[in-house]
Amino acid sequence: MKKDFLTLFSLKREELLWILKRAEELKRAHREGRIIETLRGKTLVMFFEKVSTRTRLSFEIGIYQLGGNAVFLNKADSQLGRGESIKDTARVISRYADIVMIRTFAQDTIEKFAKYSSVPVINGLTDSYHPVQILSDVFTIKEKKGKIEKVKVAYVGDGNNVAHSLINGAATFGYEVFVATPENYGPVRKVVVTAREKGGRINITSDPMEAVSGADVVYTDVWVSMGQEEERDRKIKFFKPFQVNERLLSHAKDDVMVLHCLPAHKGEEITEDVFESHADEIFTQAENRLHAQKALMEYLLLR
Ligand code: CP
Ligand code: NVA
Repeated sequence: MKKDFLTLFSLKREELLWILKRAEELKRAHREGRIIETLRGKTLVMFFEKVSTRTRLSFEIGIYQLGGNAVFLNKADSQLGRGESIKDTARVISRYADIVMIRTFAQDTIEKFAKYSSVPVINGLTDSYHPVQILSDVFTIKEKKGKIEKVKVAYVGDGNNVAHSLINGAATFGYEVFVATPENYGPVRKVVVTAREKGGRINITSDPMEAVSGADVVYTDVWVSMGQEEERDRKIKFFKPFQVNERLLSHAKDDVMVLHCLPAHKGEEITEDVFESHADEIFTQAENRLHAQKALMEYLLLR
């Protein structure tokens, strides 16, 4: 039975922990210049309906480093753009590729694709979730803090795809999460309820100070996600008190780690000075996408 990675709940906790451990080994091997070509001859198809820098590069370079190949496809340059169905596209791609990564709008699209694909499908971001981001971020937190379970993570900003996967991650990995968003921009209720049912310690608030107070990790993301550009003016005025700045961070632990999935809009969700003083953490977070996703592809293809 092929396995997909459509949300963090697609795999069991033990499977995700295996991936995180393998990511550590792959990162070390890469640092030491050791070549590991476990995916020689394997082909990844990357299908993008939204733009990307990190996701495309880290998947494409990741599969090359493991000895495989990547093919990039976007909607405009494929027959999907002229109305060919997801069902047929999935069945065609399955006949050529060994694994598929998709970035699209609706979660339904990727669920449908996975249903008709006979090869593993990875969610490279939808409007609802960004599971590869949070998988890598958990790897980064563990690497820096040496633990994940007793960590308090504060997410400040928009209740979006990244926030939803971070909430799922609390249930899977055991960290406690505080999500602070403006009223009406909170995470989807069902996401919160489901993660709580799975044991997640999840706190939702509209007070950024409450969320950040005593936090080990403060996480933020853009206020306006891809596809929401028209809502920008209406939306942004509610978010000013949710900026990650020195004043807000002063409520966190002294050794607080600041994460941002990037791209950043400095002066909006994060100030330039906070960003620069935590730049090493933020760019390690971006780097770790490479190692975590290599481990994920290995897992889905070989185990
Ligand atoms: N963080 C992230 O997924 O970045 P990209 O949009 O550049 O892929
Ligand atoms: N929430 C952002 C994440 C970008 C990686 C978006 O969907 O645009």
